[in-house]
Amino acid sequence: MCVKMLNPREDETMIDTASGSCGFPVHTIFHVRERIIADKGLDKNRLFTFEKKSARRVDYVNEKAFAVDFDEKAARTLNLIAGDGQTNVLHLNTLDYERWDERTKDGSWTDIYSEGWKKLKKTRAAKDNRAFTFDILMANPPFAGDIKESRILAKYDLGRKAKGACQNEIGRDILFIERNLDFLRPGGRMAIAPPQGRFNNSSDAYIRAFLAELRRILAVAGLRGDTFKPRASTKTSALFVQKWDEKRRPKVEGYPIFFAAMQESGKDNSGDKIHEPLQGKHGHLIVRRDLFNRGGETRDGIAEAFVEFAKKDGLSFLGGPFDDAKRKALLEYLEASEIRLSELLSENERFGIDAEFVKKEYLQIINLL
Ligand SMILES: C[S@@+](CC[C@H](N)C(=O)[O-])C[C@H]1O[C@@H](n2cnc3c(N)ncnc32)[C@H](O)[C@@H]1O
Repeated sequence: MCVKMLNPREDETMIDTASGSCGFPVHTIFHVRERIIADKGLDKNRLFTFEKKSARRVDYVNEKAFAVDFDEKAARTLNLIAGDGQTNVLHLNTLDYERWDERTKDGSWTDIYSEGWKKLKKTRAAKDNRAFTFDILMANPPFAGDIKESRILAKYDLGRKAKGACQNEIGRDILFIERNLDFLRPGGRMAIAPPQGRFNNSSDAYIRAFLAELRRILAVAGLRGDTFKPRASTKTSALFVQKWDEKRRPKVEGYPIFFAAMQESGKDNSGDKIHEPLQGKHGHLIVRRDLFNRGGETRDGIAEAFVEFAKKDGLSFLGGPFDDAKRKALLEYLEASEIRLSELLSENERFGIDAEFVKKEYLQIINLL
């Protein structure tokens, strides 16, 4: 869903800053390869064959897709896909960028990661490793664990109290929000999945205000609690954000935000994926479109409705002919809504952006009570 909604292009760089087994980069690579294959007029099923990969496909993996994880065991799947013995998956602590220079001078580290690091360095906006120029970021950092080290907290606006002093501790996912935004160029877009409380807790309203201040909230897609089962069963939502770009997409007030909530999980009670009957020439297993494709009425569920929303709103990364009737039908079918930021701010004091809660009619009723 995230990849379909952000629609990475062949000429765009992407990074996952808490990559684990690289689910986001791998799906991004598949998405871009599918485009390349379509561009050449070839059969989509060639995506999964063992034929020699084209130079364009290998270049994309080698030059544009990156990942970072502080766990050395995190599988370096990008390397397998590129198949050329190099890796753009780097063993670094994303939040503690102040110490990257120490790491990148360590011989045993450079033995493995120097090629990837050389390429990542080219995407830097400044030498201190804080800001980068990525087009796209997708990540789901872990929720558990607070950061207590004042040295790290001091580097983040969200790590400080209103008067500037450091917080005693702060949720790791909160620092990741700010850090992830630093990886993006102006106009860059990201998808992250913070825990549900960040979308509606009154005490976290400052985080939502921080997000909305210099960026556009594109969409919130509520995910079911079993989405990450069996590893975790925490309720979360996917949050889609784009940085304003003074030249190409200057800030506008009162823009619409897309809200939808997942209704079918695609997982059984033990967290195993439920598959569709085998499809395609090669009979690949396809996970039931868990983002609400009940009865086969939409191919891509929430992502499909968002694409229509984006076309109407002129979001350049999802162009194409706009079909208003389709947009309205999808919104209704998926119980999705489009709500202006100004309405959210005026009709909902704590500026909650929880997709299960934020329904226009709901806000209006609450306002009447
Ligand atoms: C929930 S997993 C991500 C799963 C991933 N999307 C996948 O496809 O497997 C979170 C990952 O974040 C990594 N992580 C947590 N804190 C980190 C940090 N400060 N810097 C880099 N990676 C971190 C963990 O090691 C873990 O692999």
